[in-house]
Amino acid sequence: MKKIKIHKPDDWHLHLRNGELLKLVLPHTVKDFGRALIMPNLIPPVITTSDAESYHREIMDALDNDMDFQPFMTLYLTEDTDPRDVEDGIAKGIVKAVKLYPAGATTNSSSGVRNFSKISETLAILSAKNVPLCVHGEVVDGKVDIFDRETEFIQRVLTPIHKDFPDLKIILEHITTQDAIDFVLNTPDHIAATITVHHLVINRNHMFKGGIRPHYFCLPIAKREVHRQSLVKVATSGNPNFFLGTDSAPHTIGAKESACGCAGIFTTPVAMAILAHVFENQDALDKLEGFTSLLGAEFYGQPPNPSFLTLKRESVPIKPSASISRNGLEVSIFDPEFDLHWKVID
Ligand code: NCD
Ligand code: ZN
Repeated sequence: MKKIKIHKPDDWHLHLRNGELLKLVLPHTVKDFGRALIMPNLIPPVITTSDAESYHREIMDALDNDMDFQPFMTLYLTEDTDPRDVEDGIAKGIVKAVKLYPAGATTNSSSGVRNFSKISETLAILSAKNVPLCVHGEVVDGKVDIFDRETEFIQRVLTPIHKDFPDLKIILEHITTQDAIDFVLNTPDHIAATITVHHLVINRNHMFKGGIRPHYFCLPIAKREVHRQSLVKVATSGNPNFFLGTDSAPHTIGAKESACGCAGIFTTPVAMAILAHVFENQDALDKLEGFTSLLGAEFYGQPPNPSFLTLKRESVPIKPSASISRNGLEVSIFDPEFDLHWKVID
């Protein structure tokens, strides 16, 4: 019997949504994660410090008394963002990072940035305050093939931002390509990347196996198998600049199984079981705690969570549920299409 005990993980990129969907998904994050960086792409987005304060309150109100969880709030950067408000949110301790979505790049990103010169004052403040800019790294140019959007973004947008603000902490989120890995490896230590659970498991074939599989559609879109293998290698390497951000992004089954299905994969309930499987296969279980619980915290200047999580390897595969539901809302849980043996036991 194999067991591992690690500091309670953190999720450095999470979509909790709001209203009923928040109430449905939140307990699943709280069960396995001590803290999470909460994405601001609500409708309407979380743009100001006051928006972030109300969203923080809504999350705290949705927690049961015995739930120990800290949401770290982000602001959604727009061309009209008031740099003073960002500064104020940082000073108050409510804003832990600012999120850059190129306009139209993904779910609820229409208020994102088109003209990057309009955000330079805010970037200067982030740089001075040592607060990370979290980046959805895809160009939205319709002429660029969807599978090349991350690579183009690195060349066209990210490299110039890094050049103009060399001290700015940047997190290239949910990376999917060797190019993104190389960018992080070849830049200073204050440039990091998050990696999701699903991008360690699926390649682009999963979306089309025997038909169209909307539950494997997310952005950035999964790439070729060689990229997946590189992601597994770097995630399990112990390199401090690559850590977990699940990008767990719940949409109702109806919104996914549609003629124009939403991008986003909900992985939270199986995230730790899948990661243990992936790390075990690489003979790297000793690196799991770093990836899930230490390296991201260190990048954000936080101590590890004081509590712990224990995972146990069962000889008989565990059978996770296919979905979760509440008051008529149903969200499908990511299916890795392999047997899961690891289970969070406490
Ligand atoms: C996310 C969502 O649904 O909000 N979707 C996704 O495919 N990852 C948005 C995002 O992070 O791109
Ligand atoms: Zn996301």
